Amino acid sequence: MKISVIGCGYLGAVHAASMAELGHEVVGVDVDERKIDSLSKGATPFHEPGFEELLERTLATGRLRFSTDFEAARGSKVHFVCVGTPQKRGEYAADLRYVEGATESLLGVLEPGDLVVGKSTVPVGTAARLATLVDEKVPGAILAWNPEFLREGFAVQDTLHPDRLVYGLPAGEDGEVARRLLDEVYAVIVERGTPKVETDYATAEMVKTAANSFLATKISFINAMAELCEATGADVKLLADAIGYDDRIGRKFLNAGLGFGGGCLPKDIRAFMARAGELGADQALTFLREVDNINMRRRIRMVELAREVCGGSLLGKRIAVLGAAFKPDSDDIRDSPALNVAAQLQLQGAVVRVTDPAAVENSRRQWPQLDYAETPEEAAERADAVLVLTEWREYRDLDPAIFGKVVAQKRVLDGRNALDREAWTAAGWQYRALGRRAG
Ligand code: UDX
Repeated sequence: MKISVIGCGYLGAVHAASMAELGHEVVGVDVDERKIDSLSKGATPFHEPGFEELLERTLATGRLRFSTDFEAARGSKVHFVCVGTPQKRGEYAADLRYVEGATESLLGVLEPGDLVVGKSTVPVGTAARLATLVDEKVPGAILAWNPEFLREGFAVQDTLHPDRLVYGLPAGEDGEVARRLLDEVYAVIVERGTPKVETDYATAEMVKTAANSFLATKISFINAMAELCEATGADVKLLADAIGYDDRIGRKFLNAGLGFGGGCLPKDIRAFMARAGELGADQALTFLREVDNINMRRRIRMVELAREVCGGSLLGKRIAVLGAAFKPDSDDIRDSPALNVAAQLQLQGAVVRVTDPAAVENSRRQWPQLDYAETPEEAAERADAVLVLTEWREYRDLDPAIFGKVVAQKRVLDGRNALDREAWTAAGWQYRALGRRAG
């Protein structure tokens, strides 16, 4: 099938290559020339495990190409809209200008019978509005909403092996046509027996924001328990293990620490609250404000903990920050808790050196006033405290005895509860973590 993918960020680029992998003929379109240039050459503009190999493989088949020209989408039967919906500046609501822009540009190349498929995370009600626009301008073209649940770091796996497919379909014959086309696009995945949920537009839009809100709530729940553990001397990691054995609760997404960041969870819960307000249902989501507050408080607590271990003042203290990406296996620093803490420490007088296996370049661009190092050893040279703020494997695997030789003071703050406390304390380190007793 001929497919176009509009928007070639994390979502779109991986989706385009994955669709080619499934056997389709795909063109990825984006206005960013540098991105298109890089993708066309098989070079990934972002760090995503397994993506470069997938890109090279699918480009070599001749089934995948990229373009900055919307005309390239002409002739495709299915058009995926994969552009970003960032938070509006100074507001909670989502900025829909890219989704609207992409859909309007598509109108110029659509043919009757074509299917436009929204994948971007949008406020409920957007799909119905765009469907009217498509129908008015190109009668016979259809719109469906098919949210994407990929996680950064697992984007390829999540796209090719999703745990479910959600089709938001229009009513009647158009819905039948859209379902058939989507089934054809995802034939390999459907035949594997992947659960499929067919809904109206509003439900499909809400599935995505509800899922992300649930995940954010789960993380903030355990972080609220961490606050209580700090007040009572209890241990949040053991607490999470113990409640996680209950199948109804589950251990996943119960890792207490610095909390959630990234380009999705924070802005999605805020956009959801804003939309609920517009719909007169804001009370239903008031709890998400608290979820957001608990999350942001963890960053402040981390700075306090650093001050505490440094003897009450950060002034002139040398602090090594291990990790800048919002999570491991990513170079994404959007709303990164790690960088937020690093910047706060620096603003409060500490001398901060940040390192990250993938995100230094991006971080330097956004926070040029911070100092950066290539390796953990370089970052930690003569440090008064080491903060592990993103749980990259290379940091979890550090040998505390050898690493201890480079620092001035063996003080480690485990912002992600990811280190082996016993090993670090055995090597003579003072170990501190959120929600756990000092070790
Ligand atoms: C998320 C959703 O998981 C995904 O389904 C959706 O499509 C996009 O948003 P992503 O932003 O890639 O994916 O990251 P995710 O793995 O969900 O982690 C989000 C944040 O939560 C990270 O900062 C991570 O460090 C933090 N987190 C996660 C915790 O603090 N504790 C946990 O137990 C899990």
